[in-house]
Amino acid sequence: MTNLSGKVALVTGGASGIGYSIVQSLLKANIKVAVADLNSEKLRDMEEAHKGNLIGCVTNVTKEADIENLVNKTVETFGGLDYAFNVAGASKAGAIIDQSVEDWDFTVDLCLKGVFLSVKHEARYMKDHGGGAIVNIASLNAHVPMFYGAAYSSAKAGVEMLTKNAALELAQNNIRVNAILPGLVATPLTSGLTNVEAINEAYMERIPMRRAGDPDEMAGPALFLVSDDASYVNGASLIVDGAWAVSGYPDLSKFM
Ligand SMILES: NC(=O)c1ccc[n+]([C@@H]2O[C@H](COP(=O)([O-])OP(=O)(O)OC[C@H]3O[C@@H](n4cnc5c(N)ncnc54)[C@H](O)[C@@H]3O)[C@@H](O)[C@H]2O)c1
Repeated sequence: MTNLSGKVALVTGGASGIGYSIVQSLLKANIKVAVADLNSEKLRDMEEAHKGNLIGCVTNVTKEADIENLVNKTVETFGGLDYAFNVAGASKAGAIIDQSVEDWDFTVDLCLKGVFLSVKHEARYMKDHGGGAIVNIASLNAHVPMFYGAAYSSAKAGVEMLTKNAALELAQNNIRVNAILPGLVATPLTSGLTNVEAINEAYMERIPMRRAGDPDEMAGPALFLVSDDASYVNGASLIVDGAWAVSGYPDLSKFM
């Protein structure tokens, strides 16, 4: 892959799971990283372990002032911002007929408004400083609904469309914006489900590769998308799901 050494990146939701793996891959590529998360303790540990190459920035991505502060702190510390990975996300599940407005707002604010605010302020800086590249983490649920996940799936579909709008508007500023749609990835977000054997089996029946993805398997595609190897990839959705999205057809192989 193109040499990314010397660049500056920020990662929201970088203290765990997919974001954490992206941070580790960026450090390996000699990129300075600002990590934004609510988990202040983990951020302190990460800063301590990577002094000079990583800063932690306690950030709630649903608060515009926090995002402005994150971008400012990144630029002040490392002298710029080339790449941004908007990863922070979580959900409060519920059947549509039972879901409270509070739980809906929590999910949509975090997963969709958080990405909007991030792209807004990352791009404001990049626009005036030669451009950059942004990757938003959506989900396979942008295309596929799930039981009790109306808020989450709707928000993730919104992230995919926001990504396309951002690519359209920001191409003139030399900023590329792409989305990754992960399938099932083994992180703290999903362990509550996959640790239950029957639920895990139900997932595995659907996923042709018969396993969850490792968070590191999201980091490679994410770094590719910001690299010059992807210089003409813009407004795209990269599904990274072990072929789950193409598994809707009945499994006829066992009858042949
Ligand atoms: N794990 C999966 O199977 C999967 C599948 C598809 C999409 N995703 C998406 O990938 C992203 C990362 O998920 P993960 O599985 O790594 O989860 P995770 O729970 O391991 O990590 C999420 C991180 O986001 C942080 N966070 C939560 N709310 C925040 C806020 N308001 N402001 C800042 N940080 C906040 C958390 O503290 C945590 O460190 C999410 O957007 C998720 O929806 C995950």
